[in-house]
Amino acid sequence: MTNDFEEVRILDNFYQTSSFYPMPVVLITTISETGVTNIGPYSLVFPFGIADQHAMMLISRNTSNTAQNVLRTRKATLNFIPYDKKILKNTVKLGFPGQTSEEKLNDSIFTLQPSNGKMTNGKIPKYVQESVQIFECTWDDGESFHYNGTKDESHFLLRIDRILMKKKWHNALVEGNGKFPSLPIDYGYRDNKHFWFSEPRTPYSEALPKGKGVDLGTVRYQADRLDSDVHWTDEACAKIVAIPRVFLKKAMTQIVKQAEEMGVTTLTPEIMDEIRDKRNREKRMK
Ligand SMILES: Cc1cc2nc3c(=O)[nH]c(=O)nc-3n(C[C@H](O)[C@H](O)[C@H](O)COP(=O)(O)O)c2cc1C
Repeated sequence: MTNDFEEVRILDNFYQTSSFYPMPVVLITTISETGVTNIGPYSLVFPFGIADQHAMMLISRNTSNTAQNVLRTRKATLNFIPYDKKILKNTVKLGFPGQTSEEKLNDSIFTLQPSNGKMTNGKIPKYVQESVQIFECTWDDGESFHYNGTKDESHFLLRIDRILMKKKWHNALVEGNGKFPSLPIDYGYRDNKHFWFSEPRTPYSEALPKGKGVDLGTVRYQADRLDSDVHWTDEACAKIVAIPRVFLKKAMTQIVKQAEEMGVTTLTPEIMDEIRDKRNREKRMK
């Protein structure tokens, strides 16, 4: 161990004052008390429930328009804006505390559009047309999730009702064609004067480690223990040996469920391909 590292004092807002922490940039639209759309920039929004529940965690100061609107209406739409200096300049402008929703709308360069989502438990906020993707969310105020740890900060578990994406990026997602939208990275408010953003680079791919998946025997062992009459051929088992062990059971359960829906009793590599294609088609149709 060398002495390459210096200990950093941990201050309030440590993610931007005491560290370098890359974050997303999201414009959150909510509905104000007067019925207009409020636009607030946020970076502390992260996936929180990923498997059984699909949810994001938002951390906001208590007194923000966004927090107050979520508490009252339960609805928030997360608009992922693209990297564009003009857009980010306006984003920072909309992040200055103390302005009313109306004042912010006057300053905003963004185009707001009404949602065509089905209304459940209240009106869905308008979305930002310039976005790459949009998460329409409903606040889950279940006891275990509503943390109000300090008088200044609120934590909201936002369940994702719908994810909407511009056609081009929807195609990229479904086809896995290696194209990615250009999304900004926020390094926060670092020096009392500026917000710092970074220009994204085109992502590159790194091959998964070889031999770290499971072996055929492990897949067979799992296949024989799934609660289903669907039979797995060895060739079908061989097709999924690259799946990490921790995800294997869930992946196999999903495949079996789809086989059952298709009326299939024996899984072959061809059927596995069909299931994969069907899944891709379904994703495309959503
Ligand atoms: C890029 C960016 C990211 C921000 N992220 C957060 C955040 O995650 N949480 C927070 O409380 N404030 C954050 N702020 C500050 C809020 O935007 C600011 O409090 C603003 O007044 C909120 O708007 P609202 O009152 O309309 O909700 C951020 C500001 C900017 C410019």
